[in-house]
Amino acid sequence: MPEPTFYATTPIYYVNDAPHIGHGYTTTIGDVITRWHRQRGERVHYLTGVDEHGQKVLRKAEANGVSPQAWVDRLVENEWLPMLRTIDAANDDFIRTTEPRHEKGAQAFWQDLNERGEVYRGEFSGWYSVGSEEFVADDYVADGEGEDEGFKVSTLDGSRLEHVTEENYFFPLSQYAERLLALYEERPDFVQPESARNEVIAFVRGGLKDLSISRSTFDWGIPLPWDDSHVMYVWIEALLNYVTAAGYGVDDERFEDLWPANVHFVGKDIVRFHAVIWPALLMAAGLPVPHRVFAHGWLLVGGQKMSKSKANGIHPTEIVGTFGSDAYRYYFTRALTFGSDGSISWEDIGARYHAELANGFGNLASRVAAMIGKYFDGELPPAGPLGDAEQHIVDTVAAAVAEADEAMERIAPQDALTAIWRIVDALNLYITESEPWAVAKDESQRERLGTILNTAAEGLRVLAVTLHPVMPKATASLWESLGAEPGLGALADQRIDEAAQWGRLLPGATITKVPSLFPRIDLAEA
Ligand code: ME8
Ligand code: MG
Repeated sequence: MPEPTFYATTPIYYVNDAPHIGHGYTTTIGDVITRWHRQRGERVHYLTGVDEHGQKVLRKAEANGVSPQAWVDRLVENEWLPMLRTIDAANDDFIRTTEPRHEKGAQAFWQDLNERGEVYRGEFSGWYSVGSEEFVADDYVADGEGEDEGFKVSTLDGSRLEHVTEENYFFPLSQYAERLLALYEERPDFVQPESARNEVIAFVRGGLKDLSISRSTFDWGIPLPWDDSHVMYVWIEALLNYVTAAGYGVDDERFEDLWPANVHFVGKDIVRFHAVIWPALLMAAGLPVPHRVFAHGWLLVGGQKMSKSKANGIHPTEIVGTFGSDAYRYYFTRALTFGSDGSISWEDIGARYHAELANGFGNLASRVAAMIGKYFDGELPPAGPLGDAEQHIVDTVAAAVAEADEAMERIAPQDALTAIWRIVDALNLYITESEPWAVAKDESQRERLGTILNTAAEGLRVLAVTLHPVMPKATASLWESLGAEPGLGALADQRIDEAAQWGRLLPGATITKVPSLFPRIDLAEA
C-alpha cells in the first residue's frame, strides 16, 4: 500500500463579496503546510474553493440587481481566482458549489442518507442567522443592543436573527451527541487547538437539536433529490465539498485515495460546523471522519476582528502590491500564532520586512554571493577542514531543520519559522565573526577563505530548501544564484529530510549575484 495522500482543505468562502486577508490567511497557511509536505516527498492534495449558494449570497446578488449565478460568476472570475495568484497558492483543486460534480455528489450523498432513514419531515419554527447561515437554538438568542436594538441576536457570534417557520426536512443530529463525545474522547487531536476542542465539547454537552436540512422559501441552492420543492440548507451542502471534490459518488478510486482528509483548516467561527455537524453526517453515511479539524483565530485590525461587513477588511493586493507575495506569506506565517487571535498592522509588516527579510535574510544572500564573486570569480570554493565555528553551523542547521519539521507536522508554522531563523542569525553572526574580508587579504589563507564561504553557501542552500514552502519566489532566485540546479535538480524537488546533509553544493558551481531578494521600501511613499 502506498502512503495515503496528505489531503488538506480550506473552508469554501462565501462569494457574497471580494476576499480580504482573513480568507487569504487560511489559504496561505494551508499552502505553506501543504508545500512543506510535498517537500517531505509525500503525495499531497490541497483543496480550496467557494461557497456559492445560500441566502447571504442570494440577497447580495439581489441587492445588486443581478441573478445569483451572474453575481458569483463575476466574483469568482474577478476576485476569488485572482486571489490565489496574488498570494501564490499552489492548490491542486478549486471547487465551486455550482459545479455539476458538486451538485451530483451532494444529491447522491443525501439520497443515500434518506434511504438509510436519516431524514424525516417536520416543521421548523425558530431563529435563523443569514449572516452565519445558521439555525440558532433559543438558548443562544438574546436581545440586540446598539445598532441591533429591536432585533434578536445570536450569542454564538452576535449576528442578527430572523424568525422562520417552514415545513422542512430534518437530520436527527441529536442522536449523534454520544458518538461525537466519544470521538473527541478517543481522538483528542480531532479538534485542535485545545481551546477549540473545549468549545466544541461544551457545545455538544449543552445538547444538540435536530438539524433542519432544507429550505423551501427560495430556490438558490441544490434541490433535494426526492423533493425538488426544497433546496438543501447551505451548510449541509457546503461541507460536502470536501468529499465531492475528492470524487465521492463519481470516482471511487480517487475517493478511496483521498478520503479521509488529513486536515480541514478553518477559522474558529466555523469550528462547530466542522467538528459537530460534519462528523455526524459522515457517521450517518458510514464514512470515515477526517483526521483533524484545525481552527485558527482572528486577524485583528486595530483590535477588532476584520470582516467583510466592517470597513476594516483589507484586500490581499493592498499588502502584496507593496511588499510582494513572499513577504506577505512570510508575515502571516511568522507574526501570528496559528490557532490564536493576533493583531496585524502595516507598521509591523514594514518593520519585519526590513529587519528580518531585507537585513536578515536578503542581505546575507547578497553578501555571500558577492564575496564568492569577488574572491573566487563566482566559482564555489571547496571547504577545507571544518573548525568549531563551522561545526556549530552544521549542528545548528541539523537541529533547526528537525525542529521545523516537527513544528510543521503539528501545524505550528510560526515555530517552524522561528527555528529556521536561527540558521539565518547563526550565519550572519558566523560571517561577522569569521571576517572573510580580512582573511582574503592573506594569500596563505586561501583554503580558510574557501571554507568560510563554502559553509555560508551551504547554509544558504538549506535556507532556500526550507524556506521554499513559505517564500517560493525569493528562494527560487536564491537557488538560481547558488548555481544549485545543475547538480541538485529543481528546488521544489529538494527534500526536507535531506536538507541538513552537509556538502551538497558542488564545488565549482557557478555562483551569481542575487538580485536583491527584498529591496528596501520607502514606506512613506508606499
Ligand atoms: O464561513 N481572521 O465562509 P466565510 C481570520 N462558506 N480568518 C478569517 C477572518 C478573520 N478576521 N475572516 C474570515 C464560511 N476568515 C462558509 C464556509 S466551509 C464548508 C463553508 C476566514 O466566507 C476563516 O477561515 O464566512 C473563516 O473560517 C472563513 O474565512 C469564513 O469564510
Ligand atoms: Mg463568515
